[in-house]
Amino acid sequence: MQLTRQKPIVTTLKPSNHPYLNGAWTPLHEEVDALDLEVIEGEIPSDIDGVYLRNTENQIHQPLGRYHPFDGDGMLHQISFANGRASYRNRWVRTRCFQAEQEAEGSLWGGLMDRWGTSRRPGFGAHGGLKDSASTDVIVHAGRAVSTFYQCGEAYLVDPETLETIGAAHWGPLDGVSAHPKVDERTGELMFFNYSTHAPFMHYGVVDADNKLTHYRPVPLPGPRLPHDMALTENYVILNDLPLHWDEEALKLNAHVVRMHPRPSRFAIVPRRGNGEIRWFEAAPTFVLHWTNAYEDGDEIVLDGYFQSNPEPGKFKDAPQGYEHMMGHLDEHTFQSRLHRWRFNLKDGTTKEERLDERILEFGTINQRFAGQPYRYVYSTKSKPGWFLFNGFVKHDLKTATSEELDLPEGRYASEAPFAPRIGATEEDDGYIVSFITDENTGTSECILIDCKRFADGPVARIALPHKLCSGTHACWADRDFIRNGKRA
Ligand SMILES: [Fe+2]
Repeated sequence: MQLTRQKPIVTTLKPSNHPYLNGAWTPLHEEVDALDLEVIEGEIPSDIDGVYLRNTENQIHQPLGRYHPFDGDGMLHQISFANGRASYRNRWVRTRCFQAEQEAEGSLWGGLMDRWGTSRRPGFGAHGGLKDSASTDVIVHAGRAVSTFYQCGEAYLVDPETLETIGAAHWGPLDGVSAHPKVDERTGELMFFNYSTHAPFMHYGVVDADNKLTHYRPVPLPGPRLPHDMALTENYVILNDLPLHWDEEALKLNAHVVRMHPRPSRFAIVPRRGNGEIRWFEAAPTFVLHWTNAYEDGDEIVLDGYFQSNPEPGKFKDAPQGYEHMMGHLDEHTFQSRLHRWRFNLKDGTTKEERLDERILEFGTINQRFAGQPYRYVYSTKSKPGWFLFNGFVKHDLKTATSEELDLPEGRYASEAPFAPRIGATEEDDGYIVSFITDENTGTSECILIDCKRFADGPVARIALPHKLCSGTHACWADRDFIRNGKRA
């Protein structure tokens, strides 16, 4: 392995016993380039050509108040595969806020759990008081990586090969861009949404394969909401108005208190293009962080995602003082997310829904070539009870209602694992899921690839990474062909 370190950044973070600033959530501060990565086990597949991109949250400066892991500064990591070789690099997303705090040599913004007024500069996004770290999600569109923030930030464009920050997306509207824009690899379009605390409270937009904003429309809601993800089909996008959101009375006093409201869940079926009618459907109350996919089936729209049985978890009993709510809201076993299917009938306006699995799962991925299309396979992650840490994977075959499971050894934690299709693949599950592992037993990190045709066999390749990674939220895979062409041939 050939390693090059970048010039260090300014950090002021002090050691603490914060549960999400230690262990597998210890912030990483160095930026490196590593060529010719070493194989620990198996061999690097020569039948994939592309990049795995991972966004993580790494706090740089001493927090002004109580730290929440979603406040951390965004860092992108890349492992690049070509001709049976792999290289790695990582870079900060150099947002306006990152630059400002580097110049100030300290924190300028408070976090999600801090009182209004903690920030020393005006904030970004729906919350209005936070730093835009572009730290939540990453996808590839029009040859660029798009790094986004869950509270609706500016959406930062990054070169997916060099990880150099290009800048805030010129197409980003005033109300920002939420995490989880979706790309249709067939058309090269990016579909996004945003939300805010002022009417109409939500918008939907489309950016075409040439990086031009071609569509932007309001999707009016009755008040401020906290949607996190969207789904697409061939002709529609699906947005939501779920009953877990900021308390409106508290919000008038600039207090951001999240609670369940006694209302059904509502889903908006919005035409992908044009200003046609938005159809609303009701369903059982819940909150959903992530959808896996959606598609059209005759008169019905099918939507799959993770239904939370206990979206308002309350206080987590073993948490350090002041972090009880944070620990509960970060633990899938507390909010109880399970794979679920909704069917919205466009003819008669009814909704049917069913649970697809009893296990606590979240952070699902699919073969992105099937995004918005009928599909068969979902790859979900399992998590360690009490923690936002992934300790296993489940492959579901939705056609046969069967699944395969793979648990990681104690102390090894995975990152979100998108699907990398084999070159020339014709079958949906012909490829690998790719994940970064942080090993608390050895203090090291590695990349693993699991052959989805032999899922339960475990990794077919383990590749050493040059430093220990901090955990984070989302990741994606992009074929090099798709990066070059902006759409799939
Ligand atoms: Fe997310």
